[in-house]
Amino acid sequence: MEKRVYIRTYGCQMNERESEGLRAVLGDCGYEIVSDEQSADIILLNTCSIREQAEAKAIGKSNLIGKNREKFVGIIGCMAQNLGETIYKKSPHTRLIVGPNGLEKIPEYLDQLIRNPDRRIMDIAPHVIDKRFAAAHDTKKVKTSVFVSIMQGCNMRCAYCIVPKTRGPEQYRSMEDIIDEVRWLAGRGTQEITLLGQIVNHYGMGKMPSIGGKSPFVQLLEKIQDIDSIRRIRFMSPHPDGFKGDLIDAYGNLSKLCPHVHLPLQSGSDKILRAMKRSYKREQFLSIVAALREKVPTISISTDIIVGFPGETEEDFQMTCDLFDGVKFDMAFIFKYSPRPGTVAERLGDQICQEIKEKRNQILLKKVEQYSKAYNESMVGTVKEVLVEGRARRGTGQFEGHTPEHKKVIFKGTEDRIGQIIDVYIEGSTISTFLGKII
Ligand code: SAH
Ligand code: SF4
Ligand code: F3S
Repeated sequence: MEKRVYIRTYGCQMNERESEGLRAVLGDCGYEIVSDEQSADIILLNTCSIREQAEAKAIGKSNLIGKNREKFVGIIGCMAQNLGETIYKKSPHTRLIVGPNGLEKIPEYLDQLIRNPDRRIMDIAPHVIDKRFAAAHDTKKVKTSVFVSIMQGCNMRCAYCIVPKTRGPEQYRSMEDIIDEVRWLAGRGTQEITLLGQIVNHYGMGKMPSIGGKSPFVQLLEKIQDIDSIRRIRFMSPHPDGFKGDLIDAYGNLSKLCPHVHLPLQSGSDKILRAMKRSYKREQFLSIVAALREKVPTISISTDIIVGFPGETEEDFQMTCDLFDGVKFDMAFIFKYSPRPGTVAERLGDQICQEIKEKRNQILLKKVEQYSKAYNESMVGTVKEVLVEGRARRGTGQFEGHTPEHKKVIFKGTEDRIGQIIDVYIEGSTISTFLGKII
């Protein structure tokens, strides 16, 4: 059997980052990474369990691939951890099941599977963070903007969420390891770093000291600020719970910290927040937003919202709408509640019918459209600093990059501009993209 591997990624940025690391370590172990399914011998699906639909999609895909006996499929990531052995029933040709914390073992497991065509392997045991895997990037493919994962797992128990089950308790990488990784990337041309964690601002909590009132997360931001050739710092996703004064001050003190924050709200009703076991109230959320806007008036604020959580009345939903109108999020992901096995909310059932969920979803999507349009229009006619990331997917001579607020801009450019921060005049916008001209 040849060793050509294709990795398909579902789910969040964490999965994207882990697929990237996996490509790098597989490449080091003699596997060839291909960019299309057809030419691969081994197909790994890096899966997500956040909603039922996410799992159904991956199972469907796996069964489709399974029709071709020449290829073999591995299911890795969150769904592997969540469903374990039952994957063999749902998708019988699957030969490899590995949870998100054991990905570093995949090259070794694939070697064994290639040697023994009748075997299958499952590893969903707890693993401590593997230092080498956590920092693995393909030396030849280091990009201008790179994700750096700083922790694994989540200690919260939001009533609806499966992540603590799929990724286990919080584990933090050491600050030295993270800084070494960022320096290594900076030395290869990376300009922008996005720090990743399920609750990225909980980094180091209870394990590393606060110094001078600064949490380990803010200390880490300061250390990255000091690395000369890194020009921009972002992070995903913080939790309102740990969004304290030191982090808000960082927006005033750290010139490289980008003026965009993705701050998941979930609901604007205190009753629902309590039922969801989110640890803040709407007023706290609003005061974080006010403090951020005081520091950086033009800051872009995006969020996640769940509609149709058990017990969500019209009144509760109205409170979410009111909060949305107050904050005017310029981007938001709206999710319809999906009961997940093993979560606290599972036993509450799925009380809100699809029709109401859909209606609430549409109402909020309209608001997202309205506020993102207003935000976008306010940018048209201005000049923005854009970090040129590469060629745009479409259009000859078209390049793309992001503004500090994380808005995507497409413009006519040249190859030599990649990796530079340039001034772009914003000529127009669609819902999610801007069209610009280099000045
Ligand atoms: N760690 C991040 C969220 C990760 S999951 C945080 O706490 O902010 C991404 C988003 O998926 C969540 O913010 C939530 O809005 C949504 N989500 C999680 N579980 C869900 C479920 N059971 N049904 C619908 N949406 C869900
Ligand atoms: Fe899930 Fe809550 Fe943890 Fe986010 S904070 S990953 S929503 S349990
Ligand atoms: Fe999905 Fe796992 Fe990310 S459940 S959202 S891939 S942490």
